[in-house]
Amino acid sequence: SHSINLAVIPGDGIGQEVVAEGLKVLSAVLPQDVKLETEEYDFGAKRYHATGETLTDADLASLKKHDAILLGAIGDPSVPSGVLERGFLLKLRFAFDHHVNLRPSKLLPGVATPLAGQPEIDFVVVREGTEGPYTGNGGTIRKGTPHEVATEVSVNTAFGVERVVRDAFARAQARPRKKLTLVHKNNVLTFAGHLWTDIFTKVAAEFPEVSTDYLHVDAATIFLVTDPARFDVIVTDNLFGDIITDLAAAVSGGIGVAASGNINPSGEFPSMFEPVHGSAPDIAGQGKADPTATVLSVALLLRHLGYETEAVRVEEAVSADLTERGSAVRTTAEVGDALAARVAS
Ligand code: IPM
Ligand code: MN
Repeated sequence: SHSINLAVIPGDGIGQEVVAEGLKVLSAVLPQDVKLETEEYDFGAKRYHATGETLTDADLASLKKHDAILLGAIGDPSVPSGVLERGFLLKLRFAFDHHVNLRPSKLLPGVATPLAGQPEIDFVVVREGTEGPYTGNGGTIRKGTPHEVATEVSVNTAFGVERVVRDAFARAQARPRKKLTLVHKNNVLTFAGHLWTDIFTKVAAEFPEVSTDYLHVDAATIFLVTDPARFDVIVTDNLFGDIITDLAAAVSGGIGVAASGNINPSGEFPSMFEPVHGSAPDIAGQGKADPTATVLSVALLLRHLGYETEAVRVEEAVSADLTERGSAVRTTAEVGDALAARVAS
């Protein structure tokens, strides 16, 4: 028999509520002989205020023992902007080498899109997760003066770019349409852009079945709105990926259904699965949050751990539930209960 040893980080705001529903569905979908062990961690605003800690070395050592991590959301208006983002989320992504930030966008039946018609949207963004302008490589001089200069250097290594590009090619190869689009800005970001383009072209030679194209990031935002059906797999850097995946979520049902995986493909470190949305303090504690994005993140978690059948069951349950739900307003727990009932039957 197997077991899943899961680290659970509900976090702040609606994180608590949506993670509870995600776990409900996870327990319901797992076969009897798979033992689910969970350990809950108290990271987030409360712990920061109580101890000043965001994520310590001891926390990382403890988290590392798990097979995977399920995260709700971290962030609260009482904590200065950037403290938890850098001190918790980015620290964890970097420490556990989550270089594949996987963000699927699929317009499910019954889900409203702001786009005209009901375009077919089914693509996945492979966002690099450990480099780019996120590394904190920069500085400021003459601070506070009219002549202040701030730099924020985008770090792109051949090693880091090649491994994420290779991962994206493999994902494209495994999908029916087998198409991969590189999104960058190589007309302006000459150095990084050319590194990405050169490596993309080199790796493409190993995947002759995958058709490729290239878009500047600004053009990509236009096509995401006017012709999202043209995308199958997109690979891009950390910051462009951050921006276009919010747009992708907006056109394919909103952040209520946008799931993500922060993946360490080698398995050296546990991968982490989280809804793309934040802690939404304005609606926290009211049972209003839609747990669907967390449940879909659980599906990504299951797939990552090799439970493909169960992952598909969760995704099908979500599809069926969204179709049935229509515009009805349901509580967080009602959605979780309905999904748990579907995957269990
Ligand atoms: C995301 C978030 C994070 C990011 C922030 C909170 C650091 O926007 O997961 O997309 O920029 O990666
Ligand atoms: Mn983001």
